[in-house]
Amino acid sequence: MPRIAYVNGRYVPHAEAAVHIEDRGYQFADGVYEVVPVFRGQMVDEELHLDRLERSLSELRIEMPMSRQALRMITAEVMRRNRLDNGFVYMQITRGVAPRDHKFPKHAKPAVVMSVRQTKLHGDEAIHDGVKVVTQPDLRWARRDIKSVSLLPNCLAKQSAHEAGASEAWLVEEDGTITEGTSTNAWILTEDNKLVTRKADSSILNGITRVSLIKCAEAKGIAFEERPFTPEEAYRAREAFLTSSSNFVMPVTEIDGRTIGNGHAGLLTLKLRQAYVDSVATPGKRSRD
Ligand code: PDD
Repeated sequence: MPRIAYVNGRYVPHAEAAVHIEDRGYQFADGVYEVVPVFRGQMVDEELHLDRLERSLSELRIEMPMSRQALRMITAEVMRRNRLDNGFVYMQITRGVAPRDHKFPKHAKPAVVMSVRQTKLHGDEAIHDGVKVVTQPDLRWARRDIKSVSLLPNCLAKQSAHEAGASEAWLVEEDGTITEGTSTNAWILTEDNKLVTRKADSSILNGITRVSLIKCAEAKGIAFEERPFTPEEAYRAREAFLTSSSNFVMPVTEIDGRTIGNGHAGLLTLKLRQAYVDSVATPGKRSRD
């Protein structure tokens, strides 16, 4: 079955899905995106992702190109045409096509594309082993709360991590604290048993998985602190993990070559992962807990 994408009002074969060379997303990274996980044929936290999409657009003064209901219908149709079971929906909205000029164009219409990718869920062994992380300088702009398609510093840091044999880079601000990963949020369980993740201000993207996991932790009575932490504090952590739409909750078992805990997924990490997966498998559970 051929993959189908949505491009500006049309459903087209993925291989033929293309935008104009003067799309401002292509020339200026003048656009935003969302990655919405799909689990057993259902979108996870769709409304939270659409809230964040609308917020990113409004921060960049890009018009919402259609109603939320219309966006929902297109996502459902793209999922249906691709028979998406597990994976994610990628949606991107740019300021549109206009002659190249840094100023906002007067008449451009926002451009919308959507595609899906089928992925496999991580197996138990991958979760048990966790992933390696290295630290890298955070070279990004000051508005990381906007989910903009301008991801060059993220790509450079991820490539460095890959070349160092790691799966993710945790980015370090000039003040020496970790902000987040290149495409994930960062968490530790400190040596004195405090669950810590950075506060969601303009220094990080407020991950939807992060937000939902906080709800799971609250429902289970697990205390957490929202504050910055340093690589040194992370090296001494009992446990560490990362969160994102594509990883859910993934244990981190090594940071900059230092083994975290016993080198395998930590108990609290596994408990939180299970709570998150349960809440995804039975939507509405979080609010009932
Ligand atoms: N990345 N931080 C950054 C910089 C991100 O790009 C992402 C998401 C996250 C986690 O957000 P969420 O829990 O909403 O997925 C944190 C997506 C998955 C990506 O770029 O592919």
